[in-house]
Formats: sequence, C-alpha cells, structure tokens
Amino acid sequence: MSKKLKIGVIGTGSISDSHLRSYQNNENADIYAICDFNEERVKAKAAAFQAEKTYTNHLDLLKDAELDAVSICTWNNTHAEIAIDALNAGKHVLVEKPLTTSVEKALKVEEAVKRSGKNLQVGFVRRYASNTKIIKNFIDHGELGEIYFAKATCIRRLGNPGGWFADKERSGGGPLIDIGVHVIDILWYLMGCPKVKSISGNTYSKLGNRSNIENLSFYKAADYDPSKNNVEDMANAMIRFENGASMLVDVSFTLHAKKDEIAVKLFGTKGGAEIEPELSIISEKHNTILNITPQVDNLSFDFVKGFQNEIDHFVNVCLGEKETLSPVQHGVEMMKILCGIYESSEKGKEIYFN
Ligand SMILES: NC(=O)c1ccc[n+]([C@@H]2O[C@H](COP(=O)([O-])OP(=O)(O)OC[C@H]3O[C@@H](n4cnc5c(N)ncnc54)[C@H](O)[C@@H]3O)[C@@H](O)[C@H]2O)c1
Repeated sequence: MSKKLKIGVIGTGSISDSHLRSYQNNENADIYAICDFNEERVKAKAAAFQAEKTYTNHLDLLKDAELDAVSICTWNNTHAEIAIDALNAGKHVLVEKPLTTSVEKALKVEEAVKRSGKNLQVGFVRRYASNTKIIKNFIDHGELGEIYFAKATCIRRLGNPGGWFADKERSGGGPLIDIGVHVIDILWYLMGCPKVKSISGNTYSKLGNRSNIENLSFYKAADYDPSKNNVEDMANAMIRFENGASMLVDVSFTLHAKKDEIAVKLFGTKGGAEIEPELSIISEKHNTILNITPQVDNLSFDFVKGFQNEIDHFVNVCLGEKETLSPVQHGVEMMKILCGIYESSEKGKEIYFN
C-alpha cells in the first residue's frame, strides 16, 4: 500500500470543516495535524477529526518532518506569510481564496513556489465544481464561439459577516475580496484567463453593516461586533481584457436590493451560458433561440461536492498525478484584478495595465 499524504490544517474556523471532511473522505490523505492560535478550537477539531498532532504556531507545525502538505484556512492577511513559510519548509500548499491581500505579497508567494519546486493550489473552489467542468467542456468545443462579455453579480442586501471580514487590515477589503473573488475568478477562468488591459471600479461605504435591521437573520462571524466595520458595502467594476472582451461586476455585503442575487453569465458569438444561479446554455438553431437545461444532479453550485473535488484534486497534485486547475499565477492575476478595482475606485479613474 502506498504511503498516505500527511496533511496539516492551519486555521480551524468555519471553512476548515469543509477541508477536514473532504480529507477524511480521501483514502490517500491522513489528517495528521491541526493548527490554530486559538487553543480551544485546535483541541476540539483534533478530537473531532482524530488528528495526531496539535500546534498553536504554524512555524512549529512546519518543523514537523512527517508533514507533507497544508491547507491554509486563516485570515486573508496571513495567507502569504504562512504559504511562504510552508513552501520554504518543503510542504505542498492549498491556500484559501484570496491568495493574499496585495499584488506585492502575491508575487512573493509566486517566487516561493518557483524556488521550492513544491505545489501550491489556490482555493478557487468553483473551478472544481461539476457544473464548471460541464460548461468548460462546451466552451472548449467552441459551443459559445468567441466569449466577449461576462457578468459577475453577487449581491447580499444584508450580509456583512462582521468579525475579521469587516476589518480591512485582516481581510484586505469587503464583499469584493470575499465573495467577488469567486464570481470574477470563475468567469475569468472560463473565458480562458485573458490578460487584463484596464479596470474602472467604484466602491461605496454608504449603508455600513445595517446592524440596525430587525427580523431578518444573516450569517455572522464568531467574533461579530457591530461597532467595528471599515470595509466597503458594495463594489462595481468594468474590466477590459486585451482580447477585447469585458466583464461587468457588482457585489455587496449590504445594499437596498429587493433580494439577494447571484448571477454568473457568459456571452459569446455562438451562444451564452449561465453558471449561476442555475446552469443553462443559450443557443440558436434554425432561426430559433433555444434555452437549454442540462439534465444534471444539481443545477446550482454544490458546495460539499465542490470542496470534495477540490481537495481530491489537491491530493492528486501532491502525489504528482495531476496539475492543479488553480495555480499561483492565477492567484496573482486575481490579486491584480481585485486590487485594481480598489485602486481605480480610490483614484476615481480607469487604471491601465501593461
Ligand atoms: N472557499 C470558500 O468558499 C470560502 C468560504 C469561507 C471562507 N473562505 C476563506 O477561508 C479563510 C478562513 O475563513 P473562515 O470563514 O474559516 O474564518 P474564521 O474566522 O471562521 O476562521 C479563521 C481561523 O483562523 C485562525 N487564524 C487566523 N490567523 C492565524 C494564524 N496566523 N495562525 C493560526 N491560526 C490563525 C483564527 O484563530 C480562526 O480560528 C478566509 O481566507 C476566507 O476567505 C473560503
């Protein structure tokens, strides 16, 4: 029997469960160690997932010679430092989205990947979803023709999670970097990762976290404190690519919208596609427009399956059996886009890339 990959999970908050459960289901992975500077959480997670070792400092964890790979599930501002330390220690890395909080830090992670020769996968979980694979197959076979427009919407009317998500220093920003990253990335990936030419963006902090609202519940981070919030409420952008294609973005934590909305859409010369809210292909045949509904188990994004696919893929990458679908270079490009939107908004004008 081949040796199981020994995994360490760093950060034991909400998303770590999705990583841990998926590793637990993977026969080539062993949940070896758990690390968080919150000792109580480390112990609870180690007991729940039968991890052999516990650590409260990631540097101590990385000294462990038995460890092969880590999942980084910590605050955004710690991703780069922990990833670089892990790569330097000779470990493979799966780092949650966003790769980090600035382009400079992203480039340092990229350097560390090259230097170490180890694998790094960015946690763009939607790339691993079954519906993404289906639509990518259609795109790769030319069914949409040339894709020239994309629309990325993720609107929460009341959904600022508070805690570190609402603290710019730890999160790097609000809805744009937290949920916008998912919808922008999946479209950019399906468009074939075109080079960004220019960005015109706006961010707004007009409504705050709307903690005054009664009778409507929403997800709150463990350390929710309504008095602390310095991230944007909403962001929008027009991204132009060198191949002439463009993407329109609108995302929010709070907005006077009638309802929450997610829309991930692609438009090409031969057809269109909606990935969310539900998978759909739009075509034209014999002078008639067709809205095609693929017959699949789940027309929307299946979170549990998406994570399982992502972790299974990462394990195969570590074992040298597959290439990652979300390499560090794509994490860097995504940081250029996200930071470009913030920069354009700050400067009040379109910014250009060369
Ligand atoms: N892929 C997705 O769909 C998805 C969903 C939610 C969150 N995320 C990402 O996962 C990450 C964590 O989010 P969360 O919701 O689990 O947050 P969380 O607040 O629930 O958990 C974060 C944990 O990290 C620990 N931590 C922070 N810095 C640390 C450090 N330097 N060393 C050790 N422990 C540290 C904290 O103590 C906390 O327990 C974020 O980057 C977030 O963007 C991804």
